[in-house]
Amino acid sequence: MAKFTLPKNSKVGAGKTHKAPAGAKRVKSFKIYRYDPDSGENPRLDTYEIDLAECGPMVLDALIKIKNEVDTGLTFRRSCREGVCGSCSMNIGGHNTLACLKPIEDVAGEIHIYPLPHLPVLKDLVGDLTHIYAQYQSVQPWLQTETPPPDRERLQSEAERAKLDGLWECILCFCCTTSCPSYWWQGERYLGPAVLLQAARWLNDSRDEKTGERLDQLEDPFKLYRCHTIMNCTNTCPKGLNPAKAIGEIKQMLVERR
Ligand code: SF4
Ligand code: SF4
Ligand code: FES
Repeated sequence: MAKFTLPKNSKVGAGKTHKAPAGAKRVKSFKIYRYDPDSGENPRLDTYEIDLAECGPMVLDALIKIKNEVDTGLTFRRSCREGVCGSCSMNIGGHNTLACLKPIEDVAGEIHIYPLPHLPVLKDLVGDLTHIYAQYQSVQPWLQTETPPPDRERLQSEAERAKLDGLWECILCFCCTTSCPSYWWQGERYLGPAVLLQAARWLNDSRDEKTGERLDQLEDPFKLYRCHTIMNCTNTCPKGLNPAKAIGEIKQMLVERR
């Protein structure tokens, strides 16, 4: 039988514990992945005991409290605090989601927080999105036309505009892509659910005049057809979108044009 040895720095060690302040009324423990590749040390899980009586309701509120009051070295992305920018995506209690939309009370017991899975870690909860953004760029996510621009804007009917619903709302948090087993194993070449949903957003735009070229680019055994309809992407999307359906519709468009 084949034997595999994990890289030495893949083992997560026990970390430090930051106890709740004396007199804390409602203590909740947060176990947070800490890793600094530049330090040469293995990752560790630090424990932070937070008094929920002195903390906002969302997981992001707790992370900000920890960073402000307990451990300024803790690193994570965040911006809007209202589920719009997509930057606070991470794995909370075993699910990829947005820290700003995840109520602390929704997770029973200790809350385990890790970066999004299967990304190189830059530091702590910050994954490296360079490759995913290069894939996003590869689908040319902007309106492309050949006809001369009209005097005013390019118009759409209400029905044409409705075809973009369920697609335009994507905030590029990549919870879906990083929960997709096909992407874990073939992410170098498979575009993954977030980028394919974006491709679908432009394929369905009645104003875009490059539909054929866009489909040509996707008709590839790896870029598109590595989706096996496992549905992790749809189950995890914190905006309630359905990337698996969007991928199915691209496949359908490719069949119909033959
Ligand atoms: S449905 Fe496709 S894209 Fe979504 S998780 Fe499954 S394989 Fe990945
Ligand atoms: S489809 Fe959903 S989970 Fe995927 S990137 Fe867009 S908003 Fe995030
Ligand atoms: S901080 Fe912007 S989506 Fe969470």
